[in-house]
Amino acid sequence: RALHASSLKLAPKRKPANHFQPRASTFKVAVLGAAGGIGQPLALLIKMSPLVSSLHLYDIANVKGVAADLSHCNTPSKVLDFTGPSEFANCLKGVDVVVIPAGVPRKPGMTRDDLFNINASIVKTLVEAIAVHCPDAFILIISNPVNSTVPIAAEVLKQKGVYDPKKLFGVTTLDVVRANTFVATKKNLKLIDVDVPVIGGHAGITILPLLSKVRPSVHFTDGEVQELTARIQNAGTEVVEAKAGAGSATLSMAYAAARFVESSLRALDGDNDVYECSYVPSELTDLPFFASRVKLGKNGVEAFVSSDVQGLSEFETKALDALKPELKASIEKGVSFAQKQA
Ligand code: NAD
Ligand code: LMR
Repeated sequence: RALHASSLKLAPKRKPANHFQPRASTFKVAVLGAAGGIGQPLALLIKMSPLVSSLHLYDIANVKGVAADLSHCNTPSKVLDFTGPSEFANCLKGVDVVVIPAGVPRKPGMTRDDLFNINASIVKTLVEAIAVHCPDAFILIISNPVNSTVPIAAEVLKQKGVYDPKKLFGVTTLDVVRANTFVATKKNLKLIDVDVPVIGGHAGITILPLLSKVRPSVHFTDGEVQELTARIQNAGTEVVEAKAGAGSATLSMAYAAARFVESSLRALDGDNDVYECSYVPSELTDLPFFASRVKLGKNGVEAFVSSDVQGLSEFETKALDALKPELKASIEKGVSFAQKQA
């Protein structure tokens, strides 16, 4: 029996929608940076999705072997490899979802912002080509610093005249995956039941788990809130330090990104009950980009869960105020980089 992502419960639980009949093997997905630490396991997980007809793998190096290896899995999607700028256009043509884990990861002692100088240019170049060859695709950005790379992508798409804010996503699913795991462990809950909304951005204090809004409803002491919040905010660094110079989270990130890809495909396929947290162009706060829960539909973001920024606890209200200046600066850094390079 073929392995499918849905049978592995990659995607979050959802209520069955009355009129939703999943079709098989319909969508084309491209992974840019597919030979990397995230790219390889992410490509494997996407290869297992019953909704994917074609999986396009792009990297500047070593992608042929990854594609040959993956293509032997007896799941429905076709795997195609592309390398270098001359093959990039063909990689992108007709693609429904583009995922971008291209770029360098952190080493111990670095912040995500320390990656800006290298990764900003990589993301800019890749999105310039997306704007030309698949402007209607959902664009899922993993490359750090996400707080700045998403604003860079938005600016590039604006410059090219193809900006659709509903289809641009910073992938913050790993923060939710971590929060769910840590909360379930701390409170002895069944993991599959736990859902923690995480808002703000994706770096340090800009990552704000809403422990007052955890489902199922659960009480935390003040000490537990502080401890869990700090652990969720520092979880990336926990992995960077454990890997001791060999990179940052790759496997848990691939798992999280595969969940977001599967949710995107389900939304594109007509499922009308798909919700994920994501760092997106937003009007929920005074910041132009903000992570919150969003409802996904065929055309991208269909609605924001505005209650994510209402009725916060005192701790969360203070944390939200505290994160805004840092997130604002990261957004402005991205926008000004893209404008200067235009
Ligand atoms: P990696 O170095 O293992 O892989 C990166 C891949 O990108 C390499 O194969 C490299 O050849 C490729 N690449 C570089 N420039 C490219 C270009 N111009 N076009 C296409 N491919 C290119 O790194 P990794 O561990 O996979 O991490 C990738 C990025 O993801 C990093 O920036 C990291 O910080 C970020 N990340 C984000 C999250 C998140 O939650 N959003 C989580 C983990 C890692
Ligand atoms: C993470 O949260 O694991 C990623 O953003 C990678 C990192 O640098 O921490």
